[in-house]
Amino acid sequence: MRSWWQEAVIYQIYPRSFADSNGDGIGDLQGILDHLDYLEWLGVDCLWLTPIYPSPMADFSYDVSNYTDVWPLFGDLALFDELVAQVHERHMRIVLDWVPNHTSSEHPWFQDARSSRDSAFRDFYVWKDSAPDGGPPNNWVRSWVNEPAWTFDQQTQQWYLHCFLPEQPDLNWANPAVRTAMADTLCFWLDRGVDGFRMDVIHLLAKDPEFGDDPEDLKVLSHVVLNHREEIHPILREIRSVVKSYENDPVMVGEVYLIDASLVASYHGNGDELDLAFNFEPMFRPFTAEAWREIIDRVIEHFDARQAWPTWVLNNHDAPRSVTRFRSLERARAAAVMVCTLRGTPFLFQGEELGLENAALEGGEVIDPGFRDGARAPIPWKSAAPHGWPNGAWMQFPPDGETKAVEVQRQDPTSTLSIYRALLQLRREHKALRRGSFSWLESPEGVLSWQRREEEQLVEVHLNFTRDVVAVEARGEVLLSTGRDHAEVFDGSLRAYEAIVMRPTTAP
Ligand code: GLC
Ligand code: CA
Repeated sequence: MRSWWQEAVIYQIYPRSFADSNGDGIGDLQGILDHLDYLEWLGVDCLWLTPIYPSPMADFSYDVSNYTDVWPLFGDLALFDELVAQVHERHMRIVLDWVPNHTSSEHPWFQDARSSRDSAFRDFYVWKDSAPDGGPPNNWVRSWVNEPAWTFDQQTQQWYLHCFLPEQPDLNWANPAVRTAMADTLCFWLDRGVDGFRMDVIHLLAKDPEFGDDPEDLKVLSHVVLNHREEIHPILREIRSVVKSYENDPVMVGEVYLIDASLVASYHGNGDELDLAFNFEPMFRPFTAEAWREIIDRVIEHFDARQAWPTWVLNNHDAPRSVTRFRSLERARAAAVMVCTLRGTPFLFQGEELGLENAALEGGEVIDPGFRDGARAPIPWKSAAPHGWPNGAWMQFPPDGETKAVEVQRQDPTSTLSIYRALLQLRREHKALRRGSFSWLESPEGVLSWQRREEEQLVEVHLNFTRDVVAVEARGEVLLSTGRDHAEVFDGSLRAYEAIVMRPTTAP
């Protein structure tokens, strides 16, 4: 039996930069509601919203000060309920971002915890005494900068742990009261009808009980990447028992930031932990046939071994956009065909379907503490500035807003947007692409070719990673191409950076 999240295409919305309904320059829930037509037209099945909770915004709502409300500039609970209802009305689903590893330092739990060592909430967080030399308790380094993952609290004379900013103290998941309190936050949203959660840095919840030093030579990687503990598994099973007590099969997608397919695969347990886990290897590899062959083989090896269902991600709010990374729109389009036709669940990030590049920020314009602003630039809806944002947006637009705007690309059958839409339609029409088996086909150097099969249905994909014309042993009807009209007959000659999806002609 297939679950809905195995066949869905999941579309990530970064609400702040999606669409602004009231002219304050900040995207909001009403802006999402106003563009549900677009998302339905595009053909995505499920929306994932990055955090919408009240927050002092030190890390753009990944520092949550209240898990059970909506940030006032985004809207309120009534509007959220309306969004859930309308999304469901359109037969789509909606997933929230759950941030269990840390709260905001403004969260009432932390405010109480830091007020005294006797606080009832003290053990909600991780407090340690100074090392014998008076420094931090161990050598863990926080994310993004080479600084300690500990801050000394003057009032209570102990250090608290924060794998990210000092404004994001880590919760102490070894404390059962934390587990219960955080389970309640899941139920709050599940009761309102959400279809699951993307779980932020989920691999971080289990901490080394000894709080030992990280190896000196690896320290610069930051503790976020280094952390991987067996103790995570019972925690995941416990979370699962809460989430899966709801009947709509809410999905559990984990952000497992370990950049290693074999480790990531282990977070599925034996079908009793995460449903899906992000495998970020592809985001760190170049656009070459060799690199992708290796990535795909590693996923097959490690995920298939535990019957785990893979995910495919080219873009998100934390990484430079694929067009920018691959330094080419053609390559990024071809890669999009790949993530939508491999075996697994594709995740798209808003604006990816427009072929957006990173916004080019001057040093002084960077406001994200992790320097990730460029990928988070606002969506250009209209060609003319301010691109459908009534009074302009909170940050600059990506390059080429005039030509890449939604209203322009919608009219052009050869646009990136039209290719994405055709790709999603193709998935809907072909069960072989959604759930079929995967196998490699012979291919010349610089090309990857594979087939997907489900019962009588057979689909082939051929992708040319080079800028030369390459001949492949394939003939058939073109279902989709990034470089030519559909419905042609494919003669076996692949154009530069072309990805082609085709139905092979059966031998006479
Ligand atoms: C995840 C989020 C990132 C955030 C971090 C801390 O990596 O994707 O945006 O800054 O966790 O919550
Ligand atoms: Ca607004």
